[in-house]
Amino acid sequence: MRPEQSIPSTDLAAWLRALPALTGTAPPLDLETIPAEPETLFRIWIADAADAHVPEPHAATLATVDAEGVPDARTLILKGVDGHGWAFAGPRSSRKGAQLAAAPAAALGFWWQPVVRAVRVRGIVREATPEESAADLAARSGAARDGIAPGDWVLWRIIASRVEFWQGSADRNHTRIVYDRIEDGWRRTMTGASAGASEHDTEEQG
Ligand SMILES: Cc1cc2nc3c(=O)[nH]c(=O)nc-3n(C[C@H](O)[C@H](O)[C@H](O)COP(=O)(O)O)c2cc1C
Repeated sequence: MRPEQSIPSTDLAAWLRALPALTGTAPPLDLETIPAEPETLFRIWIADAADAHVPEPHAATLATVDAEGVPDARTLILKGVDGHGWAFAGPRSSRKGAQLAAAPAAALGFWWQPVVRAVRVRGIVREATPEESAADLAARSGAARDGIAPGDWVLWRIIASRVEFWQGSADRNHTRIVYDRIEDGWRRTMTGASAGASEHDTEEQG
């Protein structure tokens, strides 16, 4: 039952425990045909999410750390994914701008409930060229551009060192596809139900 008003924390804990989780329906996943690069699999998965009517599948949680190493996180919009990385944008004068200047690394998390899928990306962050940042700002609506000082809008990219694709399963034998960057490409590790046996991880270099 949904609490009508604020409830004591003990009741809330019980209520939270009773809430169902991982109730979505995962699309078919063929591990024989998983792409060699995470950018390609990401493009497939975000399209699957959109097909399943995930609202705003491009909304993500971006985590950064400040100069003292204290983490922070906020929601923002993904601007693009290609061989250069996962792009996002915001004001340089923001907390995230200051944190990225002090510690140019970040993690990005997506949760697409209807398809029981989550993706997380981590890596170093690089600022795009001034031209790319200006082009991103120009593509925003007039209202969204209002109040942004010239040069304050920045497009950043996460150059991924690790990307995890996670697909939940009703029997809790979840599937995890991890891409770790190696010298000349990506090493893929797959575990869970769709990977076949749960005793052994499948590892491939691509
Ligand atoms: C759905 C959604 C999308 C957002 N998109 C952006 C975005 O693209 N860029 C941005 O700077 N902030 C965006 N925000 C606002 C951020 O969540 C955050 O409040 C703001 O960037 C300030 O964060 P900071 O103080 O950590 O820099 C969005 C918020 C929501 C809820």
